[in-house]
Amino acid sequence: MKIIRTKDYKDMSRKAANIISAQVILKPDSVLGLATGSTPIGTYSQLAEWNQKGDCDFSHVSTYNLDEYRGLTHSDPQSYHYFMRVNFFDKINIDLANTHVPDGANPDAQAACSHYDQIVREAGYPDLQLLGIGRNGHIGFNEPDDHFSKGTHCVDLTESTIEANSRLFEKKEDVPRQAYTMGVQTIMYARMVLILASGPEKAQAVYDMCYGPIAPSCPASILQLHQNCIVMADEAALSKCPAAE
Ligand code: PGA
Repeated sequence: MKIIRTKDYKDMSRKAANIISAQVILKPDSVLGLATGSTPIGTYSQLAEWNQKGDCDFSHVSTYNLDEYRGLTHSDPQSYHYFMRVNFFDKINIDLANTHVPDGANPDAQAACSHYDQIVREAGYPDLQLLGIGRNGHIGFNEPDDHFSKGTHCVDLTESTIEANSRLFEKKEDVPRQAYTMGVQTIMYARMVLILASGPEKAQAVYDMCYGPIAPSCPASILQLHQNCIVMADEAALSKCPAAE
């Protein structure tokens, strides 16, 4: 794991965008694994700005998102399909046919998840997987558990995730209770992982990810075993980690 300490959210977003941009310049047909949540929004805005200036071309890139709420249509403003359009895809020159998000609108969890595994496998897995981290150490919607998950599967969201995500819904009862998520094993197949964290509420999860035991009680801790994982975090998120980082 390489830990990069940034001053603040803006600095983190710009540096993360630099790494993704370099990936796309070096390999124009990169397969990118993408994430939703508040954390990557600044990175997406920076990439969109560079794209509009002609400095970062997404026309040959394909993308695979980590997860989607079960039961939301693609046009639902709370869906991750919608989030990705508004925050990224509609601002860059990507071909929407090359963007993929698990199909939360398909009530058949088994069919939706195995189809997603198949297309991610056929794409050869991400060259670069962008991740956020939950306050409970989750990656994607892989919540703390007694085992690490493998492929895409349907999960019951934990109370802490429902609580954290309720800020984006009118009321807590509106937060879907289930989601389809790429599994931890699939995330580990990415050739590079870039995990972002900002703010003091992520400090314990970042410490556990980097220095805790490698255990499914903190799903992100498995990244200690990844051969090319970059943790990009601001001062506040690294406040529980040794100062040398
Ligand atoms: P956040 O979510 O970026 O909105 O904090 C991160 C996550 O839950 O993975």
